[in-house]
This record gives sequence, C-alpha cells and structure tokens, in this order.
Amino acid sequence: MSRVYNFSAGPAVLPEEVLKEAAEEMLDYKGSGMSVMEMSHRSKVYEGIIKAAEADLRELMNIPDNYKVLFLQGGASQQFAMIPMNLMKKKKAAYIVTGQWAKKAFQEAQNYGEAVKVASSEDETFSYIPDCSDLDIPEDADYVYICENNTIYGTKYKTLPNTKGHTLVADVSSCFLSEPVDVSKYGIIYGGVQKNIGPAGVVIVIIREDLITEDTLPGTPTMLKYKTHADADSLYNTPPAYGIYICGKVFQWLKKQGGLAAMKQHNEEKAKILYDFLDESKMFRGTVRKEDRSLMNVPFVTGDKELDAKFVKEAEAAGFVNLKGHRTVGGMRASIYNAMPKEGVEKLVAFMKKFEEEN
Ligand SMILES: Cc1ncc(COP(=O)(O)O)c(C=O)c1O
Repeated sequence: MSRVYNFSAGPAVLPEEVLKEAAEEMLDYKGSGMSVMEMSHRSKVYEGIIKAAEADLRELMNIPDNYKVLFLQGGASQQFAMIPMNLMKKKKAAYIVTGQWAKKAFQEAQNYGEAVKVASSEDETFSYIPDCSDLDIPEDADYVYICENNTIYGTKYKTLPNTKGHTLVADVSSCFLSEPVDVSKYGIIYGGVQKNIGPAGVVIVIIREDLITEDTLPGTPTMLKYKTHADADSLYNTPPAYGIYICGKVFQWLKKQGGLAAMKQHNEEKAKILYDFLDESKMFRGTVRKEDRSLMNVPFVTGDKELDAKFVKEAEAAGFVNLKGHRTVGGMRASIYNAMPKEGVEKLVAFMKKFEEEN
C-alpha cells in the first residue's frame, strides 16, 4: 500500500487512523455482526453512534445549549436555498460576496426574496476580504450571509463582519473545526463535511433554536424545513448514516489531538511553512492579500501557465497530488486541511525548492 500526499480541496485527506479504524470495523461493528453501512438508522447501535457524534461535536466547538446540531444531506449547496426558505421572513437578506460559493448562495437567495449585495471583492478576482466593519446593511434584512473561508481563492475572514445586530449566517465548509469559534456569534454555521471532517454526503448545520420555526416560505418542502430535522434529531428520514459515523470518528480524533485550539496551532505552523516559502521564492508567489490568507487553502502561481502545468505534473509523479488550481483560477492550490500532516507540507516545500532550482 502506498498513500500519496493529497492536497485536494475536497473531498480531501482524512486522518489515516480514522480510515484504519473504519476498515477494522467494516465487517463487524463492535460485535453487531454487521457493517455500519448495513444497519438500521433506528437501531440502538446506530443511535449510540449519532448521539456520540453530536456530543463530541458539541464538546469540540463548545456549542451552547440553545443551538441544534443537524446532520443533513444535499451538500452545502442545498443550504444556499434552505437558508432563505427558512430565514427570509421579511424577504430580504444581505450577502457579502467573497468568492464563487458566496456568489452562488447570493444568486440562489434571489429566487426567494431580495438578496442585497452589501460588499464584494470581485473587483480584484476575490483576492481579499472587504472591510466589513461598517456596511450598509438594510434595517429589515433577515440575516447577513458570509462564506467564511473561500476554498477557491484562499481567503478567510480574520474578524467577523459587523452585522449591526442582524443574524449572521456562515458557510464554513472549508474551515470547519480548523480553529476554535464562538458559536454564539452566529445564527447558523454550516458546512459540507467533505473537506475537513468526513466523506461527502453529510452537511452539518448548527442553528440557534429561535431560528427554527414553522414560519417558512410558502411551498417549502418538508425535507427543507430545519424544524423537520430538528424535531426528529436528524432522524426524520434515513440520514447519511455511514458518513455520520466517519464524522464521529474524526471528532474523536480531533479530541485526541487536543481539540480545536491545538488544531489551530498545528494549522498555523503548517501554513507558515508554505507561506514563508512563497514569500521568499523567486518563482512561486501567493495570490491573495497577506492579511486575508486562509490556513486551509493556499493558492499560488509561477506566472507562467506552462511552468505551472509542468510543476503540477512533476509534483504528481513525486506523490504530491491534486495541486492543480481551480478551473476558474488556474495555477496551483494546496489544500492543507486538519488531516494533512506537517511532514506533507514540509516535503511539498522541499519539492518546490528543488523545482525552482532546476527550472
Ligand atoms: C465554501 C464552500 N461552500 C460550498 C461548497 C459546495 O459544497 P457541496 O458540493 O457540498 O454542495 C463548497 C465546495 O467545494 C465550498 O468549498
């Protein structure tokens, strides 16, 4: 068996320990005589799995009691509609557009009411986070929406926007559990798990209880009401059962690593190795404003498309895979999520140095 260093933006690298444990339990989960994949989501055994996953996530993120944790399907993209359907009571919301995913959410919201773009960084190809300290947020906006870490462009909010008392909704798909957060500052924090937490197919929504109501937009399907899932503890219908089980294992792994404060330190150390090299290199450079750099997604270029392609090809042959940048941006992108070991980043930088000397 040989494992590569996988720099994919998602689905992405998972902790090897978790994958090994899942392999060991594949045929017989703890004496049940079956795989978690084969088990009823209403069984006692599975109840234990989903309850433990939620409890561990609550502990890791220090989630206050007045928030519900929902394990849903439909990916992060389904939330682009579900959020306005459930929250746009006054038919108005403010969107800060800092990348493709924020833009998609903004566009989707227009199907349900007035989505107002209150700030954007599109003028400079989303290479920075706009100043959000004093935005012109409509008084009657139901919420303010952000994408907290921009997977494609590699930017992250270092301070949350001043929402002027409005509910904050954040897509944290690509920075989920990468550092401690103060959940109480948000109305909703949500993300697809396929980057930092588990296999594709699960989206986790952490939502303040007062936002869960019957009062959704007319025609909202039962499955797209937060209340449906909150009332049933994420078991209204068959949940993505196996995916939740793997997420639970990752939560356990994170606790063993020392929790989110330790993860933050680890992630800062890892990102520094790569950013320091990009700052000193004569060949490679980062593409975003330094103060807005993401700890998770690191885009970089040589400035020469052919050289970029040569780098990606040679890197792959050397065991550093999925370094090609997003199709809309070009260049390279190294996604260095929680499960990417420091050694992977050190080795990548050593490879980049060698490539620079040789080209
Ligand atoms: C920040 C962010 N939001 C949303 C999405 C879309 O996620 P999904 O494919 O789960 O709908 C992605 C996917 O890459 C993402 O990076």
